Amino acid sequence: MALWAALLCALVASLLSGLYLLGVFRSQRPNEPPLDKGIIPWLGYVLDFRKNSSEFLKKMQRKHGDIFTVLIGGYYFTFVMDPFCFGAIMKESRSKLDFRSFASKLVLQVFGYKPIKASQSTMHALSMKHLTGDGLNLLTKATMGNLQKLMFSKPSSREEERPWQEDSLFHYCYNIVFRAGYLALYGTESHRGVDNEEEANERDLIHSNQLFNEFRKYDRLFPCLAYSMLPPKDKLEAERLKRFFWSTLSVRRSCQKDNVSGWISDQDQFLAENGVPEYMRDRFRFMLLWASQGNTGPTAFWLLLYLMKHPDAMRAVKEEVEKVLRENGHEVKAGSPPTDITRDMLNQTPLLDSALEETLRLVAAPLLVRAVLQDMSLEMSNGTEYVLCKGDRVALFPHLSVQMDPEIHPEPHRFKYDRFVNPDGTKKDFYKDGKRLKYFNMPWGAGISICPGRFFATTEIKLFVFLMLAHYDLELVNGEEEIPAIDISRWGFGTMQPVRDVHFRYRRRF
Ligand code: HEM
Ligand SMILES: *[C@@H]1O[C@H](CO)[C@@H](O)[C@H](O)[C@H]1NC(C)=O
Repeated sequence: MALWAALLCALVASLLSGLYLLGVFRSQRPNEPPLDKGIIPWLGYVLDFRKNSSEFLKKMQRKHGDIFTVLIGGYYFTFVMDPFCFGAIMKESRSKLDFRSFASKLVLQVFGYKPIKASQSTMHALSMKHLTGDGLNLLTKATMGNLQKLMFSKPSSREEERPWQEDSLFHYCYNIVFRAGYLALYGTESHRGVDNEEEANERDLIHSNQLFNEFRKYDRLFPCLAYSMLPPKDKLEAERLKRFFWSTLSVRRSCQKDNVSGWISDQDQFLAENGVPEYMRDRFRFMLLWASQGNTGPTAFWLLLYLMKHPDAMRAVKEEVEKVLRENGHEVKAGSPPTDITRDMLNQTPLLDSALEETLRLVAAPLLVRAVLQDMSLEMSNGTEYVLCKGDRVALFPHLSVQMDPEIHPEPHRFKYDRFVNPDGTKKDFYKDGKRLKYFNMPWGAGISICPGRFFATTEIKLFVFLMLAHYDLELVNGEEEIPAIDISRWGFGTMQPVRDVHFRYRRRF
């Protein structure tokens, strides 16, 4: 009898602790944000979130207000939708809100890279050194040279005949911007091994194109991979691709290249000096490839597409490009070689800047996550204070909470190329509830995890668009073409991609 009772007690206890672990007993305590666990234990709302994150969050915001905690795949996420709190969250000390723990898990899962502790501040400093200031000048020159090789490699035909060439816009933009950035960061074929410079260039073009094609395969699997929801067949493919990138980008192969950027070589050297084994450094390079090349191409695509769909915007930006060329003594004439665009010239383009920022507002949708390391309080703009619980995660989804807010950005679904610029060329201010907002567009994230490559990304996109507008006439094959819908499986991963490609044609001007 006693034995039965003991067994029964043990059973009940383990059942209860199992249910506890599944989060069944957690309820909202005083001063905590509204709690919504959904109906499925542990999984909570993961399916709704995965299906259309933006839609899900909109629904939750309607139900619960500007702050709420939801259960997603075993984790409690507190979403903060009030942009006046963003500063407090992004500036909170790392002893309370930590970016690393969430990012590390994802990075291990997706790239097989396990970050070392205590490397963060040095890595950050190295990024600053090579992705801003003089370092950025070097990268800009390298990218410029690569773009010229990639875009003007075909011998220019006779003046009279300037044939139209047709292509798919997303593929065209992504391919060129990816390869130009990749070659600038990861280096080019050494001239030593081959007969001449032309042959080395040719090899770079072929190799970077192959790499792009494999990258796109991985890119397509990425959202499911990050959610650990890949079907078995795709899992094998993802594994194959990962190995391909580790070996293609490896430290060993990189030694044979010229012009490897300081951003890659210095970070690698730092890891090596801190005892990180070579195979792990290979994986680190793969992660950097994704971080550096996954968003710029798609952003360039949207920008060119919006310009083609909005003739007034196209006219204004083109006039600006031509003015900059003229004032810097670069008249583009028939048969003239591709222009060398300098960083100085890129600083004279307030309309292009605004059009790019507007594009990012519409299509950049990162999910910004921090782990709560200690209980802490957060004050909302209406004065209410909430407790954030240790062990939970705080998340921002600025695409919904600021970028698409009609109060901050009237007619948020429309592309207005000059939304971010005053008539005198200065930047516009933005308001909500009559108060000036600091965070009104967050394509790069904010705080300690803000994208270190944002200046380089902006430079690459602007160089590419500048060259396209200066040297080519562009038009959509179908003038009535609708702007394609965005692929909603990618919410949270950076720049969104279209569900289908769009045909366009281009030909040399003059
Ligand atoms: C349009 C292009 C780009 C967009 C929209 C973008 C966006 C972002 C965002 C939102 C984050 C932060 C993620 C978070 O807080 O969780 C991030 C991180 C990062 N980005 Fe970018 N990025 C772009 C281009 C680039 C480029 C060109 C580079 C490098 C050359 C780069 C390097 C990185 C790195 C290394 C991180 C990780 C930083 C860390 O772990 O602290 N990005 N990016
Ligand atoms: C996803 O959600 C957004 C925001 O609510 C909505 O505009 C969009 O139409 C949804 N997309 C699909 C395909 O359901």
